[in-house]
Amino acid sequence: MTDPYSEKALHFFNQYQQLSFEDVHQSWLAQLPQQPGSALDVGAGSGRDAAALAARGWRVLAVEPATELRQLGENATDHLAVEWCEDHLPELNHVRTLDHRFDLILVSAVWMHIPPSQRNTAFQVLTDLLSPGGLLVITLRHGPGDGERVFHETDRDELERLAESQSLASLPVADGNETDRMGRSEVAWETVVFQRP
Ligand SMILES: C[S@@+](CC[C@H](N)C(=O)[O-])C[C@H]1O[C@@H](n2cnc3c(N)ncnc32)[C@H](O)[C@@H]1O
Repeated sequence: MTDPYSEKALHFFNQYQQLSFEDVHQSWLAQLPQQPGSALDVGAGSGRDAAALAARGWRVLAVEPATELRQLGENATDHLAVEWCEDHLPELNHVRTLDHRFDLILVSAVWMHIPPSQRNTAFQVLTDLLSPGGLLVITLRHGPGDGERVFHETDRDELERLAESQSLASLPVADGNETDRMGRSEVAWETVVFQRP
């Protein structure tokens, strides 16, 4: 099966680069530690968020499975402290071989691509990659598909249950429901932030 993120890589790259990290992620920015550390951006896309974190002093590993999109992201961030690798949820097999724990893991606009049957594994893997005190930030897309990419339903309660099962604390975000920054009235977003004790 062809992957739209590779087939139309430049289209998606340009789309994501039009948005700013500060705007897309404003609901949880108050939780972003002042002291930068090591971050993992899973499904990094264009590298917009990886670049913004690197500009704030974070060392970022950007994970992107779509080869063409990853190459565009790599080119756009080659002057920054961003490393890229090819990997994917639920297993993140390559990242796990690095034997590294992250102070921040960002899963932005990716969870809807993970089939429900893979989510327990994905969440467990993400939790295991967190440092003590580390934050796991997941944004949830609500709304219909686009006829091109495969989207699965997302549910905040599902994430809260998964977090509870891993003994992660749920942190407040500024605004539970967020409008779509690309102006699609039928699409809405929610953000959840969890912390490893
Ligand atoms: C809607 S884009 C979001 C890109 C970026 N995180 C952002 O917020 O702009 C979804 C991204 O998730 C990636 N992706 C899809 N399935 C994935 C998986 N199983 N594991 C990791 N990334 C995945 C896609 O290749 C694509 O880059």
